[in-house]
Amino acid sequence: MDAPEVAASRWLAPETFRGVRAVVTGGGTGLGLEISRGLCALGADVTILSRNPDNHAALLEEAGARDWQAEARALDVREPDAVHALAREIVAEKGGIDVLVNNAAGNFVCPAERMSANAWRAVLGIVLDGSFYCSRSFGRHMIQAGGGRILNVVATYAWTGMAGVAHSASAKAGVLALTRTLAAEWAPHGIRVNAIAPGPFESEGARGNLWPDEATRGAVAAGIPLGRFGSADEVAAQCLWTLSPASAWMTGACLVLDGGASLARPFWEPGTRVRREREQA
Ligand code: COA
Repeated sequence: MDAPEVAASRWLAPETFRGVRAVVTGGGTGLGLEISRGLCALGADVTILSRNPDNHAALLEEAGARDWQAEARALDVREPDAVHALAREIVAEKGGIDVLVNNAAGNFVCPAERMSANAWRAVLGIVLDGSFYCSRSFGRHMIQAGGGRILNVVATYAWTGMAGVAHSASAKAGVLALTRTLAAEWAPHGIRVNAIAPGPFESEGARGNLWPDEATRGAVAAGIPLGRFGSADEVAAQCLWTLSPASAWMTGACLVLDGGASLARPFWEPGTRVRREREQA
């Protein structure tokens, strides 16, 4: 195969994750896929978990062509018993688990007053319950082995809030609290637990659910101080860094990657006041 570069992995040494057994939920699409590709390219043995087997093909095909170690299992992270059984199975098969990335998510824009209980539960179930069930089930094995790394994908609206995503913002706030709690609780077991909070970056899921038309996309881009959307591989690169030995003393942290989008807005156009003061002088 004439292989394109795996962009997210190019900042770390090629064998950074050699011998590491990793599980990535929602690892077949979007950011999850870029994280999985990056881990594979750096030597990890990666298992992706997602509900829809159609989403397994992209990684498995690339893995076959590049001789990566990758597998996929169908799993709904909202089912605690299924999560528990699959964690046992994967650990038995691989001999352990070193890395868990809780990336699986569901999201759509819906005014809170029109959000059905089922819609609320669907997103809370995937994001908050799913992250807890997976952390608990894989974490038990990490505790037994004496170490591991967990990375949770949250969003800056976990603390800023955002109109239209009451379910997702509430769930991500919960996952952030879970991150810090598990970091404190499991540090004595040698388990690091961190989070990343991406702002607007290009992904099919986000495009379809959050900025489906050009006008909305333009308005979102206009609010990003660095002047552009991020890319999934840029976000994935920071995930790999956080999971790598370079971050061995980092736990309970939440890394914001949003081009400055969550920072306070100025009351004036940047630059305009300086010009006016110069004109007056
Ligand atoms: N607006 C309002 N309500 C919506 C909705 C939308 N765009 N999409 C789903 N819902 C509601 C459904 O109507 C249903 O509620 P109801 O039974 O009261 O009608 C509830 O959410 C569950 O939807 P359903 O599709 O049955 O659940 P699911 O578990 O199969 O789907 C979702 C999960 C809802 C999160 C789905 O949007 C999804 O899988 N999305 C793809 C992944 C994704 O969003 N990734 C995040 C990218 S940022």
